[in-house]
Amino acid sequence: MADSHAKMTQATPQEVIISVVAGLFAPLLAIFLIVMLVLGIQDNHKPDTTSDAAQKATLARIKPVAQLAALDASAPKVEKSAQEVYDAVCAACHAAGALGAPKFENKGDWSGRLGQGYDTLVKHAIEGIRQMPPRGGGDLSDTEVARAVAYMANSAGASFKAPEAGAPAAPAAAGKPDPAKGKLVYEANCVACHASGVAGAPKLGDKAAWDARVAQGYATLYSHALNGIRGMPAKGGNASLSEADLTNAVAYLFVEAGGKL
Ligand code: HEC
Ligand code: HEC
Repeated sequence: MADSHAKMTQATPQEVIISVVAGLFAPLLAIFLIVMLVLGIQDNHKPDTTSDAAQKATLARIKPVAQLAALDASAPKVEKSAQEVYDAVCAACHAAGALGAPKFENKGDWSGRLGQGYDTLVKHAIEGIRQMPPRGGGDLSDTEVARAVAYMANSAGASFKAPEAGAPAAPAAAGKPDPAKGKLVYEANCVACHASGVAGAPKLGDKAAWDARVAQGYATLYSHALNGIRGMPAKGGNASLSEADLTNAVAYLFVEAGGKL
């Protein structure tokens, strides 16, 4: 008894080492467990990617991005071809005729519509009409929509000429500029400044005033008239002027100044 008591109280060097190590080990173990616990908690908070519902939620979340990537790979602004636009956006309704959409290659569906003319069809496709959403709901430029319209209409018997790659979007969508129609628009909206040269406006038909401007090309002039530049207010100050009318008015000024469309 006395012996064992002595053993318990008088620790050998080994026992001292063991107890020191054990003394360090306990706190280390505690820290280790806490770390594991925290990691475990974080793990539980990671989204569950396996269940059906979770996968659907994830798909829904990334879908807009995926669609953007599909439609707007326009990093250096590459316009989609007519068929790419059609396949990516329009086919959803126009392939099978969803919501009453006129079907691709179906002459009967399109015949009544084609009579409206290309410009009107493009306008309806850009702005939307009845069940047809603006731009088919896609993130598309005017030119891309205009091309898809020609692609679809031509599949059903029309022979519309789609705007060329790189064509200025707005005039393309508004149709071929028509100076004759533009004269009337000019007289109603532009004459106040462009007849007499108010505020430094280049006068109608004054070649000297227009030469350098005409050299910028029709598309640039159109975009300046659309957005305004220096003393020239956007759309000549008439915000409700349609792009088609503006297209024609610019064409009129352009041609009168010796420009070739
Ligand atoms: C969500 C379905 C849907 C999508 C997507 C869609 N359309 Fe349509 N579209 C319609 C419907 C429905 C109509 C018929 C509207 C009516 O006349 O009532 C229509 C009609 C049209 C018309 C004829 C308009 C007229 O004046 O007769 C054109 C042109 C057109 N769509 C072009 C396009 C183009 C181009 C795209 C793709 C960029 C597109 N659509 C995508 C549903 C769609
Ligand atoms: C309130 C006066 C005013 C009205 C109205 C007006 N303009 Fe102008 N416009 C100007 C002035 C000023 C300039 C010259 C701007 C400059 O280059 O400093 C100009 C320049 C332009 C140019 C040349 C832009 C360039 O890049 O050189 C075009 C094209 C043009 N106008 C078209 C139109 C059309 C089309 C209308 C009618 C729809 C119109 N303007 C109505 C004042 C006007």
